[in-house]
Amino acid sequence: MTAVLDVKGISKRFGGLAAVDNASFTVEEHTITSLIGPNGAGKTTAFNIVSGFLKPDFGKVTFAGQSIEHLEPHDIYRLGMARTFQDPRVFQEMSVLDNVMVGVRQKGETPFWAIVRGAEVNSQWKAARERAEKILESVGLLARANEAASALSFGEQRFLSIARALVGEPRIVLLDEPTVGLDRGTFGQLVELMKNLVSKERKTILLIEHNMDVVMSISDKVVLMMQGTTVASGTPAEVRSHRSMVEAYLGKRHVAASQ
Ligand SMILES: Nc1ncnc2c1ncn2[C@@H]1O[C@H](COP(=O)(O)OP(=O)(O)O)[C@@H](O)[C@H]1O
Ligand SMILES: [Mg+2]
Repeated sequence: MTAVLDVKGISKRFGGLAAVDNASFTVEEHTITSLIGPNGAGKTTAFNIVSGFLKPDFGKVTFAGQSIEHLEPHDIYRLGMARTFQDPRVFQEMSVLDNVMVGVRQKGETPFWAIVRGAEVNSQWKAARERAEKILESVGLLARANEAASALSFGEQRFLSIARALVGEPRIVLLDEPTVGLDRGTFGQLVELMKNLVSKERKTILLIEHNMDVVMSISDKVVLMMQGTTVASGTPAEVRSHRSMVEAYLGKRHVAASQ
């Protein structure tokens, strides 16, 4: 399998704190890789480095064969990497559809060319709108397209933020704790959506997830981070049996007791 994303030895300090400390992992195309670890382990900081929102102090990030650790987020987005944040971050006053259309615009051409090219752009715009509607349908929000985003529940806003990430047709999607705060129904829908994105849409997912049932059931690979470092990586079964995993989630006493 090809590694579409290769993260090698990334580090990031905030003052005296090593938030990410020599972390390395790969993500293979058309798979789900889950980044797990206790709060404060450096998972979100690693996401921020990979997606260009933070520059690493050290290390390399290669996406689809290209070095990206020096690029800005919008350049990385154009290369085919989209992400969501821990909070949904939707534009509350905008309609649901417009929230998704903003993503089309970010991916698209500059306003100058949009004006010069007139009619052709109108047809592009129409195509983009159709794509946005199709994506809203896939996340179950098409019927709400013309409502303000503020009218959506927290869980629906989470789906909207995922729709926004998907509309640029990314090759890889980075999801930061997408299941947090969802009720049972939306939780199940999201797990299905993630599975479908990989099996039907041929996407690649890098996921930060704290729900171990989700991690163990949908991941092809699990990467365990502790104190800024990647300490174990493998199939769910391999990582589950890893000493560091038991330490991270159950405490050292349990390791001692079970050895
Ligand atoms: N912008 C920042 N400035 C200072 N410290 C930060 C910043 N972002 C994260 N940290 C710290 O870095 C560590 C790792 O945080 P984070 O990457 O958010 O962990 P995780 O997502 O695994 O919970 C934590 O101790 C956190 O407080
Ligand atoms: Mg986090």
